[in-house]
Amino acid sequence: MDWTRLDLKDVEGYVPGEQPQMARLVKLNTNENPYPPSPLVKETFDKFSVESLRLYPDPMMTELRKTASDVYGVAADWIIGGNGSDEILSMLLRCAVSPKEKVWTVYPTYSLYPILVRIAGGEPASMDLKDDGALPAGLADVPGRLLLLANPNPPLGTVYSLQEIEQLCLAQNKIIAVDEAYADFAGVSAISLLEKYENLVVIRTFSKSYSLAGVRLGLAFCRGEIRDAMLKVKDSYNVNRLTQALGIAALKDQACLRQNVAKIVKTRKRLTESLEELGFTVFPSGGNFVFAKPPGRNAREVFEKLRSQGVLVRYFPVRRLDDGLRITVGTEPEIERLLEILQ
Ligand SMILES: Cc1ncc(COP(=O)(O)O)c(C=O)c1O
Repeated sequence: MDWTRLDLKDVEGYVPGEQPQMARLVKLNTNENPYPPSPLVKETFDKFSVESLRLYPDPMMTELRKTASDVYGVAADWIIGGNGSDEILSMLLRCAVSPKEKVWTVYPTYSLYPILVRIAGGEPASMDLKDDGALPAGLADVPGRLLLLANPNPPLGTVYSLQEIEQLCLAQNKIIAVDEAYADFAGVSAISLLEKYENLVVIRTFSKSYSLAGVRLGLAFCRGEIRDAMLKVKDSYNVNRLTQALGIAALKDQACLRQNVAKIVKTRKRLTESLEELGFTVFPSGGNFVFAKPPGRNAREVFEKLRSQGVLVRYFPVRRLDDGLRITVGTEPEIERLLEILQ
């Protein structure tokens, strides 16, 4: 359940007629970053020229791509910007999928993939992950032109090694799209493989480690025919002026990113250990979230109890996930509150 759809009457202590207030909810359900973006982002925002908004944004995002090029060590020509990584995924699917063509992914994974595949006219297809979240044998051999894999892979948070990603890239005539929305929390990235594999697309977002879910910014790293095809379907002005400016500022403050990531990784460890002490089974996660199964496997009840106390986590009423909860790593006090209720 998304917080925006939460009926506040369900929240203990709610006073009828009171305005919904985000502050009273502990929001651990959509994997946002609990810390504010870099002070450089705030400074850029404060100094931003409102007058400049009468002009269209730079369609090629020259400065943003140049800054990303410096940070990631990838030629600016191999970088494309999008209105969030969801738009990058849509662009890729729009140019790589023919009507009714199967697009492969694993299960479970990011629940938007099959939806985007259908919108693009394709047929979602998937191979089940092993029980521990490991990749299934034979994934590199699936038929079809496009394989989508998130690394780390939500909602379990499993991290796949570069060797595993490289194994997939060796499959000729197939595009391997690696969605690295959570890569900064795992410290593994396939960006270094781009030089070697022209069939690889790496997708990044500013929504998680850069704390900028609200500005909508994502990047694709790719080259050759894939890059050319994606540029053909890209809307000219798909990333607005303010977003470009804030994205550049965020990229320039890698120290802030590292600091926030370190705090989240530390809290993730504490959350994992505390949940295990309470009898939960917790999957090792490389993301800013953990997937945990309560001892009684009564995940829905626990979800509802938490919700009634104003703590929102994510419950998936679907195969393999309905006995667990995905919990975003919040601030220490937020996690304290969660654990207090669970105790
Ligand atoms: C694996 C994965 N990819 C992409 C996204 C979406 O990112 P964005 O906010 O950049 O559209 C999410 C959001 O939760 C995600 O979990």
